[in-house]
Amino acid sequence: MTTAANVPSAVIVLAAGAGTRMKSATPKVMHPIGGRSMVEHAVAVARELDPKNLAVVVRHQRDKVAEHVSAFDSAATIVDQDDIPGTGRAVEVGLLGLDAEDSEVEGTVVVTYGDVPLLKTETLRKLIAFHEEGKNAVTVLTTNLDQPGSYGRIVRNEAGEVTAIVEAKDATPEQLAITEINSGIYAFDAKVLRDSLTRVTTDNAQGEKYITDVLAIARQDGFRTLALDIDDRWEVEGANDRVQLAQLGRKLNERLTEMHMRNGVTIVDPESTWIDVTVTIENDVTILPGTHLQGTTHIATGSVVGPDTTLKNVKVGENVKISRTEGSDSEIAADATVGPFAYLRPGTKLGVKGKIGTFVETKNTEIGNGSKLPHLSYAGDVTIGENSNIGAASVFVNYDGVNKHRSTVGNNVRMGSDNMYVAPVNVGDGAYSGAGTVIRKDVPAGALAINEAPQRNIERWVIEKRAGTEAAEAALAAEAKGSASSAKESDNQ
Ligand code: UD1
Ligand code: MG
Repeated sequence: MTTAANVPSAVIVLAAGAGTRMKSATPKVMHPIGGRSMVEHAVAVARELDPKNLAVVVRHQRDKVAEHVSAFDSAATIVDQDDIPGTGRAVEVGLLGLDAEDSEVEGTVVVTYGDVPLLKTETLRKLIAFHEEGKNAVTVLTTNLDQPGSYGRIVRNEAGEVTAIVEAKDATPEQLAITEINSGIYAFDAKVLRDSLTRVTTDNAQGEKYITDVLAIARQDGFRTLALDIDDRWEVEGANDRVQLAQLGRKLNERLTEMHMRNGVTIVDPESTWIDVTVTIENDVTILPGTHLQGTTHIATGSVVGPDTTLKNVKVGENVKISRTEGSDSEIAADATVGPFAYLRPGTKLGVKGKIGTFVETKNTEIGNGSKLPHLSYAGDVTIGENSNIGAASVFVNYDGVNKHRSTVGNNVRMGSDNMYVAPVNVGDGAYSGAGTVIRKDVPAGALAINEAPQRNIERWVIEKRAGTEAAEAALAAEAKGSASSAKESDNQ
């Protein structure tokens, strides 16, 4: 069978391992870096190759992993590994699972790991091209490490062909000195893989079925077995514990921040800026230190975000300024300003040239073009029209203890400070309100809303009721000064 260039027949992603060293109730492959679980990175990279079949082999916490994988890639075939341990058995059940689903898989089968999140699609393409052009039966992806540790060692002959992959636990001292290691990522000819796997035993130090034995068997059968070595070891590095997870997260972030900077984004401090793989940023955006951009966040050109800002699934228009803000599932239109110290909860929509200012919280709220909520306010479940201003320290009181209610505010409204809007309530176009108004009734267009509560001053209350306090002393001193100055005034008359 002929396949299109660099398009494999199948990719098998191994994700059955226990991941004991994570010490976690969450399956290892579901731990996230860069906004995706490790297995989602692995499957996404495999999916980009557009393979005919894609299998994910599961066992440890299989339901959780299977559900998770199906949620982001419903086309992936989930295959269960049985009681026989080892990478060889995992590949075998993966292949058998795909064979059963379709007709027998033919051509190139790629094997990758669900806990190796930094592998690039272009590297897999190179592996497939090298494998197919060389008419190899097995091609293993390798790299060189100063400290090869517990990795399998690549044994080559003088012609550079790979004659064996030896597990560290089974290796001689000479073999342990080899620095070229097995990444665990391979391209196989399907037929050779299927045939060889039936002959792989569990006769080794770990009592497991090793996929690496396929290479030796294929070689004995006279097939070509080669290795493609790559320079960037991070691409094949797996995460076995949370220390490695953090290192991989840091590397991935370096890669992403570098990509954005090369695309014309200014990132003042890449080390304190964390960007998910799913985020998109246009050129001439400036990201200030301590900023986290997550999920489907998109930032249009000319905007300045940060410092110390976290945006998750936020759409930011052109020339927006957002500082010291936490926001999620929101939209901010062009030329708007947000913060410092704003909290945008889901469903916030800020119009062109709008403002959500300092110590302001919003939720399910639309603020029209040119409208402002500048200081110390909460706006929940409200639609505000255009060019309106809501005074400082205002609260849209949306919750009656049982239900949430929506309010509306019209266009060109000037509402006073410290207003409480007891929802549901509607304020008409061009309305005004006095400071400290509790808006319990709708305000008609053009009306001034005020509460009739005249101020009453009880003279000398502090002097009499709080005698001896600093306040009373100050009041007495002011009184004495007042009578002295009024005496002086009367002298001059
Ligand atoms: C394996 C290789 C080793 C290589 C290393 C790279 C074998 C025998 N050895 O080591 O040469 O240097 O990977 O990291 O293949 N898995 C299953 N089912 C299993 C066992 C493992 O799905 O029964 C999966 C794991 O979830 C993991 C991957 O296979 O994603 C590798 O497993 P791990 O135990 O880390 O590999 P090693 O055997 O240590
Ligand atoms: Mg491992």
